[in-house]
Amino acid sequence: MALCKGILLLTSFSSLALGQATNYKANAEASLDALQTFYNTSSGLWNTCGWWNGANCMTAVADLAAADSSVLTTAETVFSTTFSNAPAYNPSTQVFKESRPGFVETIYGHPAQKVVQANDPSVWLDSCYDDNGWWALGWIAAYDLTQNADYLSTAEGIFANMSAAWPSSCNNGGILWCSTSTYVNAIANELFLSVAAHLANRVTDQTAYYLDWAQREWAWFQSVKMINGAGVIVDGLNSACTGDPGATVWSYNQGVVLGGLVELAAADSGNASSYLASANSIANAAITNLTDSNGIIHDVCEVNESCGPDGTQFKGIFMRNLLKLHQASPSDTYKQLFETNAQSIWNNDRDDSNRLSLNWAGPFVQPANASTHSSAMDAIIAAMVVG
Ligand SMILES: *[C@@H]1O[C@H](CO)[C@@H](O)[C@H](O)[C@H]1NC(C)=O
Ligand SMILES: *[C@@H]1O[C@H](CO)[C@@H](O)[C@H](O)[C@H]1NC(C)=O
Ligand SMILES: *[C@@H]1O[C@H](CO)[C@@H](O)[C@H](O)[C@H]1NC(C)=O
Ligand SMILES: *[C@@H]1O[C@H](CO)[C@@H](O)[C@H](O)[C@H]1NC(C)=O
Ligand SMILES: *[C@@H]1O[C@H](CO)[C@@H](O)[C@H](O)[C@H]1NC(C)=O
Ligand SMILES: *[C@@H]1O[C@H](CO)[C@@H](O)[C@H](O)[C@H]1NC(C)=O
Repeated sequence: MALCKGILLLTSFSSLALGQATNYKANAEASLDALQTFYNTSSGLWNTCGWWNGANCMTAVADLAAADSSVLTTAETVFSTTFSNAPAYNPSTQVFKESRPGFVETIYGHPAQKVVQANDPSVWLDSCYDDNGWWALGWIAAYDLTQNADYLSTAEGIFANMSAAWPSSCNNGGILWCSTSTYVNAIANELFLSVAAHLANRVTDQTAYYLDWAQREWAWFQSVKMINGAGVIVDGLNSACTGDPGATVWSYNQGVVLGGLVELAAADSGNASSYLASANSIANAAITNLTDSNGIIHDVCEVNESCGPDGTQFKGIFMRNLLKLHQASPSDTYKQLFETNAQSIWNNDRDDSNRLSLNWAGPFVQPANASTHSSAMDAIIAAMVVG
């Protein structure tokens, strides 16, 4: 009898915890409140994370507002504040990147506050094309919510800088990671694909121009074998200009391509089934590669806590883009992944202030920052949208 009672008690406690963790909308809203404790209205950026990470924090805010009108006013205020204030804090050309197995790092110079024109797209640029691509996607997300034409033309101006970097020295196409680097990697090229395809669906008088760029990037991306034999995307190309089979499989590299292919499917509807089939193949291979036995997503850098300020944000980018794929091509596997991860984050990876840290299986590790937090928030938003 005592044993039975114990089991009953345990069951009711865990279903209580589960009930809170599955309240995705309330949890996403609480996550937004916690994210905004890092927001710096003077700089229009989030304290405790880097320049490019700020674009991803802003995109998370936009994604939540797209699904939850109660936070629309907050989102609009963030966009207008960031649009006017952040460029003065752009670290500009003093950005360098380092990549070794298991480790990615952005090294910033010391941004001096500058006088800038907010509607000049060049104020969002630095020497690394991935950083520029994140801001382009962030302003497109802000445009989708507000229809503010300045945001869309900012994304167009940023893309003009990325397309001027085409071609790399590999197979007559693609772009470099940074103008200051010789590395040809996946993320800069996935962002190129995604920005071009998003613009093809939004800049109505330039549809063919942007569609052509997106198609050329996708053809090139496949030709250099950025996707390996196991169906996952490697970090980049080796000196022989082919996907380095030993390069790290990062979650964000499995993600951005999915959003790009979903937009490309919309822009090039005759080939939509082929783009969506490629996206589903990458997504399923990635889920197999990145999940632990409980269905929680990890990046390899978590094992020895070497994710640094960059790698801590990757998993949310994967979830955000997998959500876009799920909306175009629904899958129970994806839905379950969002829910499992969102529940685990809420139950195991959160502090008393609803700040969320790196390892979604837990435990919560101090200090959570805007990079770890915004990333976990993306997973909760995805669960909310499909729930
Ligand atoms: C806002 O950001 C600026 C630039 O990084 C910094 O100097 C300032 O201290 C920050 N303000 C707050 C309140 O955190
Ligand atoms: C893109 O902009 C950055 C920052 O101004 C610059 O360093 C880079 O050379 C530009 N790329 C091209 C191809 O114009
Ligand atoms: C499919 O894509 C190819 C290039 O990848 C393009 O040449 C062709 O026009 C597309 N087909 C349709 C029906 O849009
Ligand atoms: C993920 O993929 C890489 C490259 O194919 C492989 O080396 C690694 O072992 C895979 N990890 C898991 C857990 O499947
Ligand atoms: C973590 O492991 C990777 C891959 O083995 C290694 O390159 C990196 O230096 C390690 N980082 C730390 C902080 O130990
Ligand atoms: C954010 O926290 C993680 C640890 O969870 C750490 O690796 C990263 O460097 C921190 N970011 C910044 C900008 O300090």
